[in-house]
Amino acid sequence: MEWARPFLKWAGGKSQLLEDLDRRLPDEVKNRKIKRYIEPFVGGGAFFFHIAQRYSPEEIHILDINEELILAYRVIQRAVDRLVEGLGKIEARYLSLPQDERARLYYQIREEFNREKRGFDFENCGESGIERVIRLIFLNRTCYNGLYRVNSRGEFNVPFGKYREPRILNESGLRCASQLLKGVHIQKGDFSTCDTLVDDRTFVYFDPPYRPISRTSSFTAYSEGSFSDADQRRLARFFQRMHVRGARLMLSNSDPKNVDPSDGFFDQLYSEFRIERVPARRAISSNGEGRGVLNELVITNYR
Ligand SMILES: C[S@@+](CC[C@H](N)C(=O)[O-])C[C@H]1O[C@@H](n2cnc3c(N)ncnc32)[C@H](O)[C@@H]1O
Repeated sequence: MEWARPFLKWAGGKSQLLEDLDRRLPDEVKNRKIKRYIEPFVGGGAFFFHIAQRYSPEEIHILDINEELILAYRVIQRAVDRLVEGLGKIEARYLSLPQDERARLYYQIREEFNREKRGFDFENCGESGIERVIRLIFLNRTCYNGLYRVNSRGEFNVPFGKYREPRILNESGLRCASQLLKGVHIQKGDFSTCDTLVDDRTFVYFDPPYRPISRTSSFTAYSEGSFSDADQRRLARFFQRMHVRGARLMLSNSDPKNVDPSDGFFDQLYSEFRIERVPARRAISSNGEGRGVLNELVITNYR
């Protein structure tokens, strides 16, 4: 079987950090004493795919507040044949066009995608849901820098990307992802929704939106609501409560000390836990400043 990887390019993707995170997993995940794996900020799901393939936990729950993303996971889980067919068609059409007509098609689909959003039933994984995910993947593959970004009205606003031969359909990757998603619980919601699922045989990996690395970068627009410092504090309180419950917990974030060595925001929030600094090459940054080797924080409640 092919190795499943994220089917969307998503800001904050953990593909670069997989081995560093893997090395820090608790033994209970590796020897399968953990019953349940929960990822409440699943995003593109790099770590979820890794865990599911390497350790196949008995029960898996993935959550995210972004409804487009959750719809995509559900459609891949339940209707991969239709998705593959639709993406194949749009890929053939797109690749047959000259560059200026490709741009026109891109903006037309972006327009439809935004127009349809208002009033859309994201719980419906039928024909309209499948069509929407086809558009989402198409836009993600052909837009500038391949990322998902919305404005304050929730409209997808990334410009056209001008790639020569973008791969819009990755059939084996999608089929493999679909296999791995069988039986996975997929839920839209705030991270705190997983509260009732956590017990002492649970492992939770938290990958919240990064705290902006400098004042000028505001790279937290995954969904209309951004993740404020108040949310980071709320998450730290949640982490503490789940710790008391006996769960194994791991959390990653960007290190504010990369920019301001005196900024101990997370060191204070997680002072009673283990905090490690891991060098990471950040793939996406809203300005030149954030590129290059930066430390990522990895916080665990075990050794
Ligand atoms: C850093 S990304 C996750 C990256 C992901 N682990 C990956 O490998 O691609 C953070 C995710 O948190 C989601 N999010 C933002 N606020 C949230 C909230 N309050 N509760 C749950 N998810 C949230 C965003 O939609 C985004 O997908």
